[in-house]
Amino acid sequence: MSESESTGFQPKIVAFVCNWCTYAGADLAGTSRTKYGANVRVIRVPCTGRISPLFVLKAFENGADGVLVSGCHPGDCHYISGNYHARRRWTVFREELFFLGLDPGRLHFSWVSAAEGGKWAALVDKVITEVRELGPLSSWSRKASSA
Ligand code: FES
Repeated sequence: MSESESTGFQPKIVAFVCNWCTYAGADLAGTSRTKYGANVRVIRVPCTGRISPLFVLKAFENGADGVLVSGCHPGDCHYISGNYHARRRWTVFREELFFLGLDPGRLHFSWVSAAEGGKWAALVDKVITEVRELGPLSSWSRKASSA
């Protein structure tokens, strides 16, 4: 049992998901009554191509311990190439976060379609477990830096 588990730490996960695939997949998980961690707060956006890296920084700044970005599978984006732009952006952004001292394990990127409710539930549980292992992210939060 890790130190985070023994202290009962429950990480806050912010998930930015595209409206057309992952949000529908998360909805399917709900309507199918698939159980998964309640630590995730879902923010629906039109497409992963719309997600600015600043959204992610703001989430961490305001207390998120981990961030998940998920959208349509390659070739399925409803705006043709938004997810390809997002994939390229996250490849670079993860490296920048690592350079800034943030553990890259706190930022996850995935593809979940509208038919993959089970995959969504498993993904959320995996992210929660990994972020719980890393412990709370206090050094980037506004409250911690002003204390
Ligand atoms: S519409 Fe889902 S990633 Fe673009």
